[in-house]
Amino acid sequence: MYDSNEKPFIKYRGCIIMGSTGSPSGMDKEDINNIAQKKSTKDPDEFSQYLIDRMHQLEEHNIRLKEETRKVESEKKFAESQKVKYEREVRRLRSEIERMKAPPLLVGTVMEELDGERVLIKSSAGPNFVVNISTFISKDEIYPGAQVALNQQSLAVVNVLPAPKDPLVHGMEIIETPTVSYADIGGLDAQIEEIKEAVELPLIAPERFEAVGVEPPKGVLLIGPPGTGKTMLAKAVANETKATFIRIVGSELVQKYIGEGARLVREIFVMAREKSPSIIFIDELDAVGARRIDTGTSGDREVQRTLMQLLAEMDGFDPRGNVKLMAATNRHDILDPALLRPGRFDRIITVPIPSFEARIEILKLHSRKMKIAPGINFERMAALTPDATGADLKAITMEAGMFAVREERDVVEWSDFERAIEKVMKSTRPSLESRNSGGVMFA
Ligand SMILES: Nc1ncnc2c1ncn2[C@@H]1O[C@H](COP(=O)(O)OP(=O)(O)O)[C@@H](O)[C@H]1O
Ligand SMILES: [Mg+2]
Repeated sequence: MYDSNEKPFIKYRGCIIMGSTGSPSGMDKEDINNIAQKKSTKDPDEFSQYLIDRMHQLEEHNIRLKEETRKVESEKKFAESQKVKYEREVRRLRSEIERMKAPPLLVGTVMEELDGERVLIKSSAGPNFVVNISTFISKDEIYPGAQVALNQQSLAVVNVLPAPKDPLVHGMEIIETPTVSYADIGGLDAQIEEIKEAVELPLIAPERFEAVGVEPPKGVLLIGPPGTGKTMLAKAVANETKATFIRIVGSELVQKYIGEGARLVREIFVMAREKSPSIIFIDELDAVGARRIDTGTSGDREVQRTLMQLLAEMDGFDPRGNVKLMAATNRHDILDPALLRPGRFDRIITVPIPSFEARIEILKLHSRKMKIAPGINFERMAALTPDATGADLKAITMEAGMFAVREERDVVEWSDFERAIEKVMKSTRPSLESRNSGGVMFA
């Protein structure tokens, strides 16, 4: 009897082992047999013990399975989210491929709005076309002068370019102000005062002009021989003023394509108004401001168009407003008289060749950082340099320094200055002029 009990017990143990190894141990046939066998045993305690154990075992198994389900489910969720992510990535890459394969769009400028859905445009390649506008573009985005993107084949307007402002114009605004200050300029105190009063004061304290009832000058023109410090003055204004300073060299306004120069001028003024208070400075004004003549080539006519736009813009703004105009030229004689009319460049400031006293001051300014032998006589130096411009005087101090460097001395002596004066004053004027052309100096 004991024997017959032994066997099922081993079986029962076997069941536990089987269950714990994870194989699905539900109520299979063997289990039923087991129970039947247990039932037939005489000992009811043993049988109930067996059932309780078996129940525990199944419960444990159930818990394990539940955990597993949870784990698998969370894995599934993760996989699904990965799938969505990769699908998005595929879509993005597909559209990127599409974008890379798309043909380029042409750039054009709207010349005129025609009836209905058509406009007259000037393509960047030159000729004018009458083209359709995409229905996705709202009518008020199209205006003469707007920059648009054109389909390559049909030249239909498919997009209006967001910033019609030329990148060139953006480059003109001085973000980093130059390091020149009024203190670096020698012998031009009267001119500095005049600029402050004509350019800065109307911007900073317009009420003072209103109180007296005078119109401040609209534009200030600096005239004088090359190398006398006109560009330098403007740089100092840029440095010392709190207004936005927009500088442009006249030659930059002379553009390759018809109408481009005029557009640049227009955009410069738009930007100046947006960023007001501001000062627009046109260096080498003669590049666009030369007297207009009838028998011009098409290039000349383009320059004249630019000048006309400039005149129109100057007329279009309020002298007491917060945009001021400054310009510099060394060819005052060839300027178009229209530029100098009242209401345009109505304040002319002459920047002369430095006087004896000014020369002393400029020489001292430029040699203040140099190690100079004691007893150097700047008066004598100024006396030896009649007619020298500020640029010449700067060149003299630099040359003197170079002589000292060449001879491996660390102090500049009178003999160095003497040789430098001789060298610089002997060199001919034309070469000086080309060296001091404003465009280069400003960069
Ligand atoms: N009055 C001055 N004081 C000090 N330096 C001067 C003066 N005038 C000219 N210079 C020097 O000559 C250089 C050229 O001057 P610049 O302003 O470009 O002349 P402009 O524009 O009148 O042709 C300046 O960078 C400066 O170093
Ligand atoms: Mg200059």
